[in-house]
Parts: sequence; structure tokens; C-alpha cells
Amino acid sequence: KRVAILISGRGSNMTALIESARKPAYPAEIAVVLSNRPGAPGLLRAREAGIAAEAIDHKAFASRSDFEAALEARLEEHVVDVVALAGFMRLMTAAFVDRWAGRMINIHPALLPSFPGLATHERALEAGVRVHGCTVHYVTPGMDEGPIIAQAVVPVLAGDSAADLGARVLRAEHRLYPAALARVVRGEAPIVSGRVEIGREDLVYCD
Ligand code: GRF
Repeated sequence: KRVAILISGRGSNMTALIESARKPAYPAEIAVVLSNRPGAPGLLRAREAGIAAEAIDHKAFASRSDFEAALEARLEEHVVDVVALAGFMRLMTAAFVDRWAGRMINIHPALLPSFPGLATHERALEAGVRVHGCTVHYVTPGMDEGPIIAQAVVPVLAGDSAADLGARVLRAEHRLYPAALARVVRGEAPIVSGRVEIGREDLVYCD
């Protein structure tokens, strides 16, 4: 299967996916990296890794759907089967999301359905939760709402700053995302009645 990674920034999850996909047994290849921000550091990192990487600057388009049409054209050109969002900071229209239903996934830095949206580590600390983590989920039109594919859990430790906690979660993201993407491309994470069945060897990682 051919995967496109969509980024907006540094691309550390992208790098984790690229590295995993290099292993011969991995069931997917990274066909292209696309960024809506031309200055995204991840674009350079992808090219250094020998992956086609292109910017599609959303500011150059009059509307969200014009931007998405350009995106769709790149995905078609690279014959992409699955889209993996990795720090892609752009909301998509329901039409685009529906076209990729069951074929587009995202990683979110919290244990959904807790803490959708931004500033998840700050909010986890404010809420006083004892465990935090990350979630890989299918993308649906509601933000951070799609069926959960896999989660990784990390402890919240005494004295943690948001940066400390975020770094711990990010390490878990880099393990979780490649494993979850592999499961998706192998067809092992089908959506049944709006959720992904919990598997026998499920993807739960605890630090
Ligand atoms: C990650 O924390 C991811 O969970 C969130 O955005 C961040 C992207 O980081 N969606 P990076 O660009 O992968 O380093």
C-alpha cells in the first residue's frame, strides 16, 4: 500500500513512519509527504530521507475546497491508498474527509475522547489526570472524533511540566503510529458499527 503523510511542521511522527516503512517487512511504503506550509521543517527531513516532498500552500487558494482539489490531485498522481496526518494543522471539509473515509488516519497527543483540540498536555496537567498518552484514529468530519485504532499510555509524574509530559507522549507517538498504520494497511482495523474492534493482540503501549 502507498501512503501519503500530511504535515504542517517539524515532522517527527513523519520521520518515525518513514523509518519504519524502510524495514522490508513493513506493509506500506511512503509515497509522498505533503505540507500545507512551504516552510515546514519536515519537508527537508523527508527529502533528506529520499522521499518525494511537496508543499501545497493553502494560502495560495481562494477556498478550502480549491486547496483540497490540489491536494487530491497530488494524492492521485502518487497513487495513494492511505493518508496519514502527522501534525497537519488544517481542518478539512466533510466532502474531502468522506472521500477518504476509512483510508485517512491521524495521531492526536491525548487519550481521546479526553482532550481533543490543542494544548493537550497543559490541559491534562490542569485536570490532574494520572495517565495521559496518544491516540491514532480514523479521520471523520468532527475534529479528533473518529474511531480509535490504537492508544499508548504514559504516566503523569510529579513535577512534570507540559514540556516534560509532551516529550514523554511524543516518544510514545513515535512507537504507536507506525504500528497503527501497519495495522490499517493490513486491513486489520476495519470499522464495524462506528468503531474498530479491540483485537486480540491490541496496540496498547505503556511506558
Ligand atoms: C504531534 O504531537 C501529533 O500528535 C500532533 O501534532 C504533533 C506533531 O508533531 N497531531 P510532529 O510534527 O510529528 O513532530
